[in-house]
Amino acid sequence: MSAAKELLKQHLQQRQLQGKTHIALRPDALAKLSGHEPAPVLRAAPVPAAEPRRSAVLASAPAPRVVAEAPPAETRKAGLIEVAGSTVEEKLEALRAMAETWEPALAMNSLRKTMVFAVGNPHASLMFVGEAPGAEEEKLREPFVGPAGQKLTAIIKAMGLDRPQVYISNICKFRPAMDNQGSGNRKPEPAEMKACLPFVLTEIDLIKPKVIVALGATAAEGLGIPGSVGSLRGKFHSTSGIPTMVTYHPSYLLREEKMGDGIRAKRAVWEDMLKVMEKLGLPISGKQRGYFQAK
Ligand code: URA
Repeated sequence: MSAAKELLKQHLQQRQLQGKTHIALRPDALAKLSGHEPAPVLRAAPVPAAEPRRSAVLASAPAPRVVAEAPPAETRKAGLIEVAGSTVEEKLEALRAMAETWEPALAMNSLRKTMVFAVGNPHASLMFVGEAPGAEEEKLREPFVGPAGQKLTAIIKAMGLDRPQVYISNICKFRPAMDNQGSGNRKPEPAEMKACLPFVLTEIDLIKPKVIVALGATAAEGLGIPGSVGSLRGKFHSTSGIPTMVTYHPSYLLREEKMGDGIRAKRAVWEDMLKVMEKLGLPISGKQRGYFQAK
């Protein structure tokens, strides 16, 4: 045994006598320790499930053992961003900070530079996903605060909920740029949504809502549910295993109210929201069931 390993053995034995059962080990240390010389008291063994990462365990047997690190946590799921933090709130904050300077999106130059993240309850059962911020959202740095946002807030209220009880996000975290932009908005292109997609997927993974509502065909497409709202709505699809209802975007309701069949569009959205409420186990009053029925 090398002098270094002998020293380490003594150190570990002392720590064990002091009642210590865990020591931290640098990732490269175990490889160095195991070297070529088989050390009688240092050997790799599986880490018990409950052990923290990057720890080594001192076994209680006569001589201490150094245990191999757990495989990287990281059971990391494809397409997700790994963020630091011990609570959902901390992780969302770390994610938000990363989004501010997200190169894949900013380098496209077709998106504006002000990042608009999300708003709401990090422990919400219900998550709404829109497409991208518009002028008002960019100004206030909050999703769905313009006219479409007011419509969405009214829908949430009709469901018997308040805006702070749900979580509201967008696939694309930056307002799509246009020539002569003024207050003009446009839908994000697939590549623009793709550049931001890891954020909304990570938000979903952290929040673990029971139901997601995709607002409009663009948001649905961004989540990997292609098709027209007409063909997708009324039934649940899946985003990362979470039941996802696709319904009309609130802007569509506003347009239909002005120039089309506002009642038909509102009825369709309301039927979808009733299904969402049922899925969430929310109480549904006779009045709520009857909205639009007699109209
Ligand atoms: N439309 C969206 O899809 N998202 C917003 O935040 C605002 C309008």
